[in-house]
Amino acid sequence: MASFTMDDIDPSLAESIQAGLEAIEEKLHAAVATSDPMMRSTAPYLLDAGGKRVRPVLVMLAGAFGDITSSQLIDAGALVELTHLATLYHDDVMDGADTRRGTKAAHRVWGNNIAILTGDFLLARASAMSAGLGSEIVAVHAHTFERLCLGQLNETVGPGSGDDPFVHYIDVLSNKTGSLIAAAGVLGAMIAGAPESVVATMREYGEAVGVAFQLADDVLDIRASSVESGKTPGTDLREGVPTMPSLLLRAHVEKHPEDTASAALLAAVDGDLSSDDRLAEVVSALSEHPVVDETERLAETYADRALALVESLPAGPPRDALTAFTVSLVRRRA
Ligand code: IPE
Ligand code: IPE
Ligand code: MG
Ligand code: MG
Repeated sequence: MASFTMDDIDPSLAESIQAGLEAIEEKLHAAVATSDPMMRSTAPYLLDAGGKRVRPVLVMLAGAFGDITSSQLIDAGALVELTHLATLYHDDVMDGADTRRGTKAAHRVWGNNIAILTGDFLLARASAMSAGLGSEIVAVHAHTFERLCLGQLNETVGPGSGDDPFVHYIDVLSNKTGSLIAAAGVLGAMIAGAPESVVATMREYGEAVGVAFQLADDVLDIRASSVESGKTPGTDLREGVPTMPSLLLRAHVEKHPEDTASAALLAAVDGDLSSDDRLAEVVSALSEHPVVDETERLAETYADRALALVESLPAGPPRDALTAFTVSLVRRRA
């Protein structure tokens, strides 16, 4: 399955979700509007460029376990996407990314300062959105953003000398990606008045599916074309940002020093990847290495954990839809 489509789910539920997503889209466009002559170009830039809207979809799917017609779900959908957008502006600066959502990364157009301030501006707009939803939601949002920051920070800092690099990395993924995906599910369920057990399951589900989603993203950085992902393949490798395949390769070489081909590949990964041709060559060599398949299998393990949690939810069209959504996130090509 390429990605989640409404064709996979019950038609009447699909109609409600679609209506919600259209309203979220309108709300998002209103939320990035400003009269500031500079910000009016930069704030809508990535919103207009595309994106899958995974987090708003999850708000609506979780909302289907309660009253899906609640108008506050629209604000919650906009809230999570605005927060996600803010992190994309910041992440592309940190990762030195060239492209995002199929277009030039914002900092490549306007420079780092403006890209960072645009992310901050979007976060301010997200905070205003959460204020309208009440203090409980403000608290969920604040806690989520704290975890996003800590995830990005700890990815940059790396494991301490006594830390297991894999435990550290999974913790990074659950903070930088799982936190917001979990928040989408939790907010959707809470706002729609779903039972407390559904809210709790959504919290755990979001963490697991978030890690699966980010591991799939690590694979896409190596195996997807820029046309598919809208990003430049090998961005993380070039900047020395750790990913699961590179961590697995490092561990493999430490354990099997006799595997000289893998050692040479690791040296290439750690080497100078500033030239586009060299980067493409190393990305292509790494894409054939079993560590990438291993990363895919690990993503499937987390997805299976998420699917088991979905199975514990009340049976019916919302649960079936959430199953289809979960599978699509891990088997995606974008
Ligand atoms: C990209 O998220 C950042 C990650 C957490 C992997 P998405 O893959 O949801 O990006 P868009 O919103 O579709 O552009
Ligand atoms: C993105 O992580 C996570 C956040 C934006 C918080 P990545 O750096 O791995 O995502 P991409 O590949 O640039 O989308
Ligand atoms: Mg990053
Ligand atoms: Mg990045």
